[in-house]
Amino acid sequence: MHSDTTGQWTPVALSADLPAKTVMPARIGAETIALWRSASGEAVASADRCPHRGMRLSHGFVRGEALSCIYHGWRYARSGNCLHIPAHPGLAPPETIRVATYPVAEQNGLVWVAKGAPAGQPPRFDKLSPLRSVTVMAGIAAIEAAAGAKANADGALTPAVAPQGLCLLLSDLGDGQTCVHGLIARDATPQQRIAASREIETLRRLAEEGATL
Ligand code: FES
Repeated sequence: MHSDTTGQWTPVALSADLPAKTVMPARIGAETIALWRSASGEAVASADRCPHRGMRLSHGFVRGEALSCIYHGWRYARSGNCLHIPAHPGLAPPETIRVATYPVAEQNGLVWVAKGAPAGQPPRFDKLSPLRSVTVMAGIAAIEAAAGAKANADGALTPAVAPQGLCLLLSDLGDGQTCVHGLIARDATPQQRIAASREIETLRRLAEEGATL
């Protein structure tokens, strides 16, 4: 998957890593976003910059269906419009105060985000379940060399030597870094899941060292 992801779905996190009422930083290419989940369970992707004075919204907090900035407490709805400014409690914030939001899709235990209007739906991995995510300090080519296999057009790679059903979803973060989401066959045993998790660690080390399996 290339770093210019405009119009494409990018896998940014495992659903299990984003509990309700939390916010975390995530990456689409080189851009950091604030990924959060409301109390009702809705996943939301917002620009990671508060329109007030630029604080990272991924440092903020979630209350109910809104994300609040940690600095002066401006509160933003899932749609991005500002709901409340604590220093002016009687003011209805104008519609012009809003944070950019991005389309989000959630399926197969993965959270996908798109910049721009996405074409279609994210790829499905119905026979797989999520395992873990890691950031590799190496580009996709180094990971492919370490794994002895190429990623397909969806960014999915099956290592040449791997525990049952291991699949790696790669997304280019720029600056020679890659986000890797590991998936494993849904019927994998706990032992196979542990072995697959170790395999991901091994691949990370080999890719970062420029080595191969
Ligand atoms: S910088 Fe976010 S509320 Fe002030």
